[in-house]
Amino acid sequence: MAEYKIRNYRRSDYDSVRQLFASGMNEYVPSVCVHVLKQPWVIFVMVCLFLSLMVSSKSLILPLLAVTLLLAVGRQVLGYCWYMYIDHCLKEDLRDIQKTYMESKGSSFWVVEADESIIGTVAVKPSDEKHDELVLKRMSVRKDYRGLGIAKALSREVIGFARANGYKSVILNTLMVQYEAKKMYESVGFKKYFEYMMPTVYGRLVNFTISKYRYDTLHVT
Ligand SMILES: CC(C)(COP(=O)(O)OP(=O)(O)OC[C@H]1O[C@@H](n2cnc3c(N)ncnc32)[C@H](O)[C@@H]1OP(=O)(O)O)[C@@H](O)C(=O)NCCC(=O)NCCS
Repeated sequence: MAEYKIRNYRRSDYDSVRQLFASGMNEYVPSVCVHVLKQPWVIFVMVCLFLSLMVSSKSLILPLLAVTLLLAVGRQVLGYCWYMYIDHCLKEDLRDIQKTYMESKGSSFWVVEADESIIGTVAVKPSDEKHDELVLKRMSVRKDYRGLGIAKALSREVIGFARANGYKSVILNTLMVQYEAKKMYESVGFKKYFEYMMPTVYGRLVNFTISKYRYDTLHVT
């Protein structure tokens, strides 16, 4: 079992925290691509393109090249969109972590330190919708420290903070590709209470689903 310590964020953690968040989110590019590829209309377009080029060219080379090219372009476009999302987060709450999380009531940011490095993060802030609800954000554990119960420990830190500060629940959002995160939150006691498709044209097009989870702090484990 690795020795690790959970502590409050310090200004000197800034670069490590942002880097950890970006690399954790970057890992999802392949699974987002697979998710999009599994959509029936995408498969339909690919098959139609392949068959029509095969019939018109009477060869396998052109349709194979065209599909490969389309896949490569699709991968670049999705990678770029994902990069834009990460960049957006880095320019929002992660731009001034100290001010957003450490100097605002009901907010906090924790890091996990191991082997003199920052290997995990989690944050919490009050919900915009309910005064007695907190939102858990920025959960991330470095790849080589996963499966050791660190995210569970971070979740418990957040739950403890919520209880100590009189909040009745902790909520969070997960994306359709974050299977490990969903399992982890469920294992801590979070329950899925709502699922919706991102309300944009692109969201509907690629079936981009967001699941909302809640932990009731009155719940005794
Ligand atoms: C999700 C994440 C934070 C989990 O971190 P972790 O420290 O490895 O998680 P833990 O070791 O605390 O695992 C706790 C539970 O999660 C589940 N889990 C974790 N990794 C899993 C995997 N690869 N497959 C299946 N379940 C998994 C298990 O239920 C596990 O409980 P168990 O060990 O009793 O079976 C980590 O994978 C990560 O940083 N991912 C990238 C960023 C991300 O997705 N953040 C979440 C945003 S909502």
